[in-house]
Amino acid sequence: MHIERESFPLPWSKESYLGELSNNFASYLVCDYEGEIVGFGGIWVIFEEAHITNVAIAKDYRQQGRGKLLMNKLEGIARDKKAVRILLEVRPSNNAAQIMYNGLGFVPTGLRKKYYSDNDEDAIIMTKFLY
Ligand SMILES: CC(C)(COP(=O)(O)OP(=O)(O)OC[C@H]1O[C@@H](n2cnc3c(N)ncnc32)[C@H](O)[C@@H]1OP(=O)(O)O)[C@@H](O)C(=O)NCCC(=O)NCCS
Repeated sequence: MHIERESFPLPWSKESYLGELSNNFASYLVCDYEGEIVGFGGIWVIFEEAHITNVAIAKDYRQQGRGKLLMNKLEGIARDKKAVRILLEVRPSNNAAQIMYNGLGFVPTGLRKKYYSDNDEDAIIMTKFLY
């Protein structure tokens, strides 16, 4: 929750995460550094489509390859479950995340108008096609 709160303008609640524990479509991974959780990410795989719910690395541990590593592990889960594409939403103002997603082969495929309620920012939908 600490990483969630420092990473997102609209953090999920603890209850939302607890709910995910009983979501059969969801998988979550944490990034461990010397016994401390320094990042996490989640994915839903619903039949052929996978959706990244959130990916965050603690501020002091960013830009050292962990975000990419986590994304590659999440992609592995999608591939294991036979998903054919992975989708996610990202803020146009979030350059760091867009650079990471571009580098991983995600391409912009759509826009959700006024998706983020804190500032009415649109969401760019990015997709990685796996097959
Ligand atoms: C987005 C985020 C997860 C990236 O994690 P990270 O551990 O810093 O990412 P990495 O070190 O693996 O970097 C991945 C790529 O993005 C680039 N990158 C990461 N942060 C960057 C920044 N602030 N500025 C420019 N490039 C950046 C890296 O150079 C790297 O590029 P490369 O593949 O060409 O080497 C992290 O910034 C974060 O937690 N942000 C807050 C939460 C968030 O925005 N999540 C995504 C929501 S859609």
